[in-house]
Amino acid sequence: MWYHSYTKHMIPRQESVASPRDERGGCPWLLERETRKGSETRTRQFTFNIDAVRIPYGNHTLKYPEHPQAASSQYGRGHPHLWQPHPHGAKPRDVLEIPTTCNGMHEKTPHPTQKPEELLRKIVLASSNPGDLILDPFIGSGTTAVVAEQLKRRWKGCDISVEYCRWAVERLELVEDWPIERWILYDQENARRRQSIRYF
Ligand SMILES: C[S@@+](CC[C@H](N)C(=O)[O-])C[C@H]1O[C@@H](n2cnc3c(N)ncnc32)[C@H](O)[C@@H]1O
Repeated sequence: MWYHSYTKHMIPRQESVASPRDERGGCPWLLERETRKGSETRTRQFTFNIDAVRIPYGNHTLKYPEHPQAASSQYGRGHPHLWQPHPHGAKPRDVLEIPTTCNGMHEKTPHPTQKPEELLRKIVLASSNPGDLILDPFIGSGTTAVVAEQLKRRWKGCDISVEYCRWAVERLELVEDWPIERWILYDQENARRRQSIRYF
């Protein structure tokens, strides 16, 4: 994945953009690959916890929360269907819109390319389960490890800079022991607040 510091967007790699949507409702940004007999093939054996990374519905959906779907729609499956919003929000889009870390944020360190915890929470929540082991060999200021701790995953990390590792340890000592659901609600609330600032 690419993190584009100018647009503040996650830009999926070209090959991910080209991939078809998974029938479980996943989006391409977390598709994994596996190597079989020397050739790269797509696998269906991946974790994608879509309900943990849902996003707020747009204003239109909030205004008209239920509407009938034609039998020919993807929801109809041959029969007329009354569509209702999911209680945890909309499916995530292919591009994650999350602001960069800035001075004054509690998580900010002097690391020059520190990633936002909210971004890593999306990735870790969607693509792993509690107790799974997460490896970040370029851990920098420790964002992946901090988020793994928050979300009850195990982790390993390293960095070529001893100073960055020290910053990571300092952050790890301050991790809040919240239930995972509280982190999900925390990010959803922030996303909702950003959306309200943008549109009203
Ligand atoms: C993009 S930064 C990671 C930032 C991190 N995700 C964060 O939020 O702070 C990449 C990191 O890779 C580290 N790095 C570069 N070459 C390395 C190497 N050969 N072995 C280990 N770490 C390396 C750099 O010191 C840098 O901290």
